[in-house]
Amino acid sequence: MQFLDVFNYLPGKGKIIFLFVMILLCLWVYFDAEKRGISGLLWAGIVFLFPMVFPVYLIIRPKYFIAFCKNCYRILPRDSINCYFCKKGIPLERDYPPTMTGFFRRWVYQVFLDITRTYHQIVGIGLFFFKKKFLMLNIKLLSFYSWGTCHQLVATEGPNIDIPIDTLTYGETPFLSAWKIFALASLDKKDVFYDLGSGTGHIVFFCNILYGIKSVGIDAITGFIDYSNKIKEALSFDNVTFWEGNFLDADFSEGTVFFIVSTVFDPVTRAELAEKFKTSPVGTRIITVTHIMDVPHLKVIGKGRVFFSWGYEDVYLHVRT
Ligand SMILES: C[S@@+](CC[C@H](N)C(=O)[O-])C[C@H]1O[C@@H](n2cnc3c(N)ncnc32)[C@H](O)[C@@H]1O
Repeated sequence: MQFLDVFNYLPGKGKIIFLFVMILLCLWVYFDAEKRGISGLLWAGIVFLFPMVFPVYLIIRPKYFIAFCKNCYRILPRDSINCYFCKKGIPLERDYPPTMTGFFRRWVYQVFLDITRTYHQIVGIGLFFFKKKFLMLNIKLLSFYSWGTCHQLVATEGPNIDIPIDTLTYGETPFLSAWKIFALASLDKKDVFYDLGSGTGHIVFFCNILYGIKSVGIDAITGFIDYSNKIKEALSFDNVTFWEGNFLDADFSEGTVFFIVSTVFDPVTRAELAEKFKTSPVGTRIITVTHIMDVPHLKVIGKGRVFFSWGYEDVYLHVRT
């Protein structure tokens, strides 16, 4: 079954629906493959031309990533002992939830994660599909990140940066989850939003599109900041700023809401970050992922559980007291 065979066979309306479904499917394959450390462009291309390859892709793709190579910072299949990309990395294992023992349970859990991730990608993009700037943002992100993955950027630059390397491990907040997190923090027009460790910058742009507020992204990886600035220029995001460097050295004085995907941040970095909010005005909101900032000047006032590219995590809303 080839794309053209099916396409030619279908009547007029069927052709459009088929094309639409194939584009969604190939977008999913693209992101899925990239996150597993294989070429998204290649696999999406193959599935587009030969849709029957899709079930084969599902079987042979690397299994759900829970290991990270400490040498080249690629995400690896869960049972890796050594990295099959650079052949020398020592993967850092992320545990399954305690109940996920045994092959069958893990397999079910993995399928559940795959379905959830697809749901978040499709619904997240679908919800805001008709906002022109959001659509353009996704096209730009796709164009910048199609030839080199985020993990490759970290692999190239990470070793030259004076930041603990585990802290630089890359993962993403899907748009749908960011939307829920913004609601948890009750973002409004008066806020100034900071994403500490902004990666591709997609959450910073998304926040600006939804609320029109000043949004700032900070990341230590030059490649991320360069691409973010290019997207900012190309799509005329006037109220968006990116700052390159260690967020521990950044000026937080303007921010009223801070978003920190702190799952992989080491305890020292988390403690230093928490300390920085001592000088923030009362009422400043800080959102962390996985870990609470357990310091006297911050109080947890809200909690949620949302999906990230690697699975579900708790999200905590703190306020400066
Ligand atoms: C898990 S990613 C989150 C990306 C994005 N905020 C999102 O939610 O999708 C964390 C990012 O933090 C950056 N990072 C980690 N430690 C940092 C530091 N000390 N200073 C600046 N950026 C840092 C990494 O380069 C990476 O891009």
